[in-house]
Amino acid sequence: MASQLRTVKQARVAGKRVIVRVDWNVTIGKALQIVDDTRIARTLPTIKWLLAQKAAQVILVSHLGKAEEKRSLKQIGEYASGLVGSEIVLFDHLTRVPEERVVMLENVRWFQGEIANSDDFAKELATMGDIYVNEAFGESHRMVASIVGIPKYLPSYAGLWLADEVATIIGVREKPERPYVVVMGGAKVEDKIKLIEVLSHQADIILLGGKLANEWVLGKKTVTGKAKVLVPVEGSNLLDIGRATQKIYTEEIVKAKTVVWNGPMGMVEEPIYREGTEAIFEAIAANVGAYTLVGGGDTLAMIGKEEHLARIDHVSTGGGAMLALLEKGSLPGVEVLKS
Ligand code: 3PG
Repeated sequence: MASQLRTVKQARVAGKRVIVRVDWNVTIGKALQIVDDTRIARTLPTIKWLLAQKAAQVILVSHLGKAEEKRSLKQIGEYASGLVGSEIVLFDHLTRVPEERVVMLENVRWFQGEIANSDDFAKELATMGDIYVNEAFGESHRMVASIVGIPKYLPSYAGLWLADEVATIIGVREKPERPYVVVMGGAKVEDKIKLIEVLSHQADIILLGGKLANEWVLGKKTVTGKAKVLVPVEGSNLLDIGRATQKIYTEEIVKAKTVVWNGPMGMVEEPIYREGTEAIFEAIAANVGAYTLVGGGDTLAMIGKEEHLARIDHVSTGGGAMLALLEKGSLPGVEVLKS
């Protein structure tokens, strides 16, 4: 499947204005610090390659948080400037793109047409550039203008990281070594409850934690697939999984040959509720005999440091996107980049 993707390496970029959709929707901490910069770091090879190939301009487009929060990308742009090695100039008017080499549109969710996936808005976005590159794997499950709209109006390509993500995750989907264990937690419960049903036909064991587990237990949900779904033994309305659950989940993870993990096991914003999530990470990282795939903004923020990330086989920048790709085998934002 990945071989059908048009990647940026197939594009002639010299002298061109290149729109790069990134997913710099990173977790910002209480002290307003960037908790984890993996989502920025993974886009750097594509951005640097475009600059080295003499693209006239790189125009970055990203969302941040929910539309109604109206959050600014200013802090993230400043932080990323250091990593890109060039000042990223922020702008907020589609027809007034600054002339600097690397520029970034303010949070694309400030604009009404984005979530509505308006064609007019996609067309307006497209006028900023000559070529479009999707390097926002984490948002590629969304039918939004900056993901599926712009490719209708510009030659479009996959970023280097996006292509790698797609190939890797499809590989797990098509040939998971068994036992195949999925660990799911965190927020965005609605999206995930539906996924559990689908994944119950692919995985052997599904371990639930966090808000997701509470909803599952309260809603008395069941699955039709063959996978065994385990919930915390301590009941519902939990802020973290307890020791007994940690032990049961760890035993399943130790036996696994494939582990996929998305979403913390508790309210990890509060340090006292991190124990369960840390225990799960440790169990996954310690299972060197399994193929381990971990993803999602909050999950990355929790794992944090590069030395921790290095213990996982593939760290996906997508949470919902990773799960949706495992579920369906394709994503709307990826389909539009195929020849
Ligand atoms: C994510 O955090 O998973 C991506 O940035 C997508 O964010 P969204 O769920 O708000 O579209």
